[in-house]
Amino acid sequence: MYSIEEISEIIKTCNKCQLCNKRKNVVFGEGNVNTKIMFIGEGPGEEEDNTGRPFVGKAGQLLTKMLAAIELKREDVYIANIVKCRPPNNRVPFEEEVVKCLPYLRYQVSIIKPKIIVCLGATSAKYIIKSDIRITKDRGIWYKKGNFYILPTYHPSALLRDPSKKKDAWEDFKNIREKLKML
Ligand code: URA
Repeated sequence: MYSIEEISEIIKTCNKCQLCNKRKNVVFGEGNVNTKIMFIGEGPGEEEDNTGRPFVGKAGQLLTKMLAAIELKREDVYIANIVKCRPPNNRVPFEEEVVKCLPYLRYQVSIIKPKIIVCLGATSAKYIIKSDIRITKDRGIWYKKGNFYILPTYHPSALLRDPSKKKDAWEDFKNIREKLKML
């Protein structure tokens, strides 16, 4: 069994899919490995690729603010993505790329053992909850899988594109805050 530090070193030379060809940095994930809650996005964007850190661009800054609104700091939670390398022009990762990368996320989850997983956006929810999930319809609903409570919500980029969705996202975040208090 590798530690989270060891696996984050191993993944730096990963070449299991074509996304390795153009990446500047692998974006493994970061945060508190003893946390009760993980936030999982889709894949690194430009800023994340440049820095090697998840959710540090505009969408990430919004996520950080949303966490603060429910009294959480980034250091209190763990933040990761479905794929660890940036898809070109931020396209949605292809299924074959996700299939190659998912074992890393599973490994992270198995070490961190969160009680709550928040899926940020459709790609995350599709691979973690169910393939036919619709964020607009299914967001805000808790799914129980094994030991995990899983909540799909909007990706922060979707909130930047359409601020009218923020009201629902805020309901979801209050919901997360309440669940965290109970667990
Ligand atoms: N969008 C994501 O899904 N993940 C990031 O890390 C940044 C933007």
